Amino acid sequence: MRPLLQIALDELTMEDAFKVLSNGVDEIVDIIECGTILIASQGCKVVEQMRERYPDKKLVADLKIADSGKVMAGMLLDGRPDYLTVICAANQKTMKAVVDEIKERKMTTEAQMELYGNWTFEELEVWKKIGINHVVLHHSVDEKGGWSQAELELVKRLCQHDIHVTVTGGIDYDSITLFKGLPIFCIIAGRSIRKAADPAKEAQRMKDRIIELWGE
Ligand code: 5RP
Repeated sequence: MRPLLQIALDELTMEDAFKVLSNGVDEIVDIIECGTILIASQGCKVVEQMRERYPDKKLVADLKIADSGKVMAGMLLDGRPDYLTVICAANQKTMKAVVDEIKERKMTTEAQMELYGNWTFEELEVWKKIGINHVVLHHSVDEKGGWSQAELELVKRLCQHDIHVTVTGGIDYDSITLFKGLPIFCIIAGRSIRKAADPAKEAQRMKDRIIELWGE
């Protein structure tokens, strides 16, 4: 199966986020992400607003929960996202509290682990036991330059661990090819679509490139 295409909405207002999705971007992408910046700027209610506008679209609430798992997850789950994110630096009790809150609400939402900085493959096995089987490997937005060979090796290694692997950070049309041949679950693009002269055209170009490299 080809990697899905997710748009990261890191706008400061809901109005701007909806504007990005207009003109067909919402139809082209497979997943819509309420980005960390949008949630930080406007609050967790953005997830609910997005769900109201898109009842049937796959939706990510990317708050990168670091603590107070039950309360933080609860605020996001009110918006019925398909995925929510937890940061790998969080205490494992926080991770479990997030997963428990999903279970308590009898929801099918999946928790994703956001990989930044220091973490180990031993921890990955613990996260799986907690119930987190999906990782998002980040190339930091603040990092100048593209994906390094070391980061790409890490993606390859993660793909051998029977989990969903999503990649994000500075990915544009040209860099999609870096992941060719790998069983990536999802490719997240923010600025490369949002800042394009014609976001819908760029989203379609990126999706077509994914299909060209991986098939339908
Ligand atoms: C930052 C994020 C970004 O939304 C994500 O990495 C997309 O970034 P880019 O604009 O570089 O495609 O999660 O925390």
